[in-house]
Amino acid sequence: AAPRPLAGRRAVVTSGPTVEAIDPVRFIANRSSGKQGHAVAAALAALGAEVTLVSGPVTIPDPAGVRMVRVESARDMLAACQAALPADILVCAAAVADWRVEAADQKLKKQPGGAPPALVLSENPDILATLSQAGARRPRLVVGFAAETETVVEHAVAKRRRKGCDWILANDVSPATGTFGGDDNTLHLITDHGVEDWPRLTKQAAAERLAARIAEALAAASPK
Ligand code: C5P
Repeated sequence: AAPRPLAGRRAVVTSGPTVEAIDPVRFIANRSSGKQGHAVAAALAALGAEVTLVSGPVTIPDPAGVRMVRVESARDMLAACQAALPADILVCAAAVADWRVEAADQKLKKQPGGAPPALVLSENPDILATLSQAGARRPRLVVGFAAETETVVEHAVAKRRRKGCDWILANDVSPATGTFGGDDNTLHLITDHGVEDWPRLTKQAAAERLAARIAEALAAASPK
């Protein structure tokens, strides 16, 4: 049988976009495909972890062997993650909307000759930062992603500190890289020991490499 080094470990993974309602029929969202987050959930499950995958709306299939929790907004995603705790591992791969709209209860109407409505935005909770700083509820190993278009590693090193997570996987999402929505990713793993440059990998291979690293780190921290 395949080795299951994460048997008995619980993991929560966020994936996909969040969608933020403008009114009952309209929303703001982003182009996240969910491919990387879903692949991470599948890879952790393949190593034996009990995985809850909290995902915004995506068009890709549910990975095998994970518990799916479907959400829409950032606030719903945070609540679903909190409900899935305690966990040993948290991987935040979702593209969470930074802002939500002060949503209207009724469909906004176009007024003949009227000015277009202004959307009033307010800040969403940062799920990664909130759960990284959750005290006794904090998962032992918290991993975030950092999508950057310039000075990728420097920005990600700062982000790791600011958010309080253990690891950051940084990637270049400049349009020319085809990362957003594509099948491949070139990642840099940032830990408190430094930076590891990974080769260009499929999102599935990157997820498997991450899951193996997580299994190693947890085994070293608390051998079973
Ligand atoms: O700050 P930035 O959005 O670049 O950080 C990206 C990381 O933070 C990702 O791991 C993403 O899933 C997470 N994040 C989050 N909640 C937010 C914003 C980002 O969990 N509101």
